[in-house]
Amino acid sequence: MDFKQRGKFAWLSHLMYSIKHRGLASTCSMGLKEWQKERELGIKTFGAHAPAELSIEADSKMGGHLYQPSSSVIFERAMNALPYNFSDKVFLDIGSGKGRALILAAEAGFKKVIGIEYANELNDIAYTNIEKVKSKFPKTEFVLQEGDALQYDIPEEVDVIYFFNPFDEDAVRGLMLKVKPAFERKKPIYLVYVHPVHCNVLEEVLGDPTSVVKNWKEIPDVAVFSN
Ligand SMILES: C[S@@+](CC[C@H](N)C(=O)[O-])C[C@H]1O[C@@H](n2cnc3c(N)ncnc32)[C@H](O)[C@@H]1O
Repeated sequence: MDFKQRGKFAWLSHLMYSIKHRGLASTCSMGLKEWQKERELGIKTFGAHAPAELSIEADSKMGGHLYQPSSSVIFERAMNALPYNFSDKVFLDIGSGKGRALILAAEAGFKKVIGIEYANELNDIAYTNIEKVKSKFPKTEFVLQEGDALQYDIPEEVDVIYFFNPFDEDAVRGLMLKVKPAFERKKPIYLVYVHPVHCNVLEEVLGDPTSVVKNWKEIPDVAVFSN
């Protein structure tokens, strides 16, 4: 699949991909759930935007994939694989887009959610979405950072690093070099990689991370690793 494709074509090819891999009934049921979640939260995160359609200054734009929002169905399954309660945990979304994963993490109960995103337009939309839901999640602190995730130092307080296929293999390698020091600490860290097309790089850079999901088929579309 072409992860840099321009919006309207991307939307169609993702629909075809989903029908092929999940079947028509599952694709329709997931689509309906995402639409209901969007209405329930009162946010606007739908759409597909290629890097070429966005104003991004970072050099790493070359390796960036298009924006599309996380599925709440896949997000919930991934979070269910993590072995703890999130009320004292910090969630980091690499390439936070319009803020959907951050808001889903707040809904899951994380005490703090941090997003780093290099496209200004998407960050502005994320601010608006977060403003709309903040009062629903008074126990969660929201932090949005504008900038290149590959230049960002992962804060020590982070417990879960989430990334939904944000970039190509070289950029995943760059991110893993940033993740490595956090992975070598004693504190448990979970990496949640949605649509994990470059998992080989995680194994290459992090050594032999523990796969939390033994049978990948149990959670289609997600790989979860810990140190
Ligand atoms: C597939 S979208 C996921 C959006 C969001 N995480 C979600 O789950 O709803 C990937 C996002 O990563 C962003 N991105 C790609 N490369 C980046 C980089 N080097 N630094 C910051 N953001 C990046 C894109 O602009 C896009 O918003």
